[in-house]
Amino acid sequence: MSILERQLDRAQLDAEKMTPRQERQQGCIPMWVADMDFPAAEPIRAALLKRMEQPTYGYTGKTNRYYDAVTGWMKRRHGWDTKAEWITTTPGVVTAMGFAVRSVIQPGEKVVYQPPVYPPFKRMIEKNGGIAVPSPLKLQDGAFHMDMKDLEAKLSDPEVKLFFLCNPHNPVGRVWTRQELTQIGELCLKHGVTIFSDDIHHDLVLSGHAYTPIASLSPAISNITITATSPSKTFSIPGFKMGNIFIESKELRGKFRTIVENTGVSDLDIGAIEATIAAYNDSEAWFDEVLQYIEDNNKLVDSFIAERLPELKTFALEGTYLKWIDCRSLNMDGRALESFMLEQAKIWFSEGYTFGEEGAGFERMNLGTQRNNVEETLARLEQALQARA
Ligand SMILES: Cc1ncc(COP(=O)(O)O)c(C=O)c1O
Repeated sequence: MSILERQLDRAQLDAEKMTPRQERQQGCIPMWVADMDFPAAEPIRAALLKRMEQPTYGYTGKTNRYYDAVTGWMKRRHGWDTKAEWITTTPGVVTAMGFAVRSVIQPGEKVVYQPPVYPPFKRMIEKNGGIAVPSPLKLQDGAFHMDMKDLEAKLSDPEVKLFFLCNPHNPVGRVWTRQELTQIGELCLKHGVTIFSDDIHHDLVLSGHAYTPIASLSPAISNITITATSPSKTFSIPGFKMGNIFIESKELRGKFRTIVENTGVSDLDIGAIEATIAAYNDSEAWFDEVLQYIEDNNKLVDSFIAERLPELKTFALEGTYLKWIDCRSLNMDGRALESFMLEQAKIWFSEGYTFGEEGAGFERMNLGTQRNNVEETLARLEQALQARA
């Protein structure tokens, strides 16, 4: 049996994913937040135990051990040459979104983003003084695409100073191609727009697809880009709260760092440092097994839905472990669909409408879990849909 099949009692450990926020989430199978259920890689557990055994928990620096692990991974896994000095650490990628907005725009200026997208995009733009301008993704021929015409129109507005990219895209599961990224990069260069690329899911790329850091496309694009990464999703360690934010441009990096320093949160805690090093240096084999497991979960969901739930539609999953499911043919609005899933099917998904109005009628299912949870979810879904018919 794969180590990934081992089920830990996460509810006992106060896992957010297992803790109902509403009465009707009780007894539902939790398939929502982007948080994997797999036991973490053994090298990470061992490194943490070894460090915690030493009873000295004072302020701890990030030395070459840390930076070599991070830049080494980017080079080895993605062929991306980066330098330690480009990196600023933050306690997570969402935190970095707010810092990026504050360091690039003046209050009241605009930031373009592409819904349906991870809800903090819009929230962090607005809560940090920006005006969020949507350029919705287009659903065409069964796949999501960027609307380049609309994007150009929005980016050419002189009040737009920043573009929020999500690569791979949560929730639609696209891994943007070099061609798409080149078009975006060129549009941003042409219109003087800085790019914040949230690449937190960058390692989670399924076979047949390749992740391209937009900053790797050219020195000019790198010069206007902030790339946000973290080992948290890849290695299922988001509870440690860490982010590595790459900025090549000295000027842009300086502005970003000033905001980070002004808030006093640039240090990482000891656990985040040790977990990151052990993840990037010693846990690649664990991750490759996880990726294969997710790929198999994805195949299972696709074939089950195609064969037994033809009223629903799925999309080719290129990246992330988050499956976007089109339930619009059920003719329920976002809230009614949520009630149906929680109260009839007893499944707790991430609700499509929370990703923007473009997401209403969709559900997002987490595939980073043991096979029996995926099977149970599909069985519950089938039963609830049959009872409704
Ligand atoms: C696209 C994206 N960005 C950021 C995050 C969260 O990042 P962090 O926990 O580092 O703040 C998530 C979590 O689901 C995500 O999907």
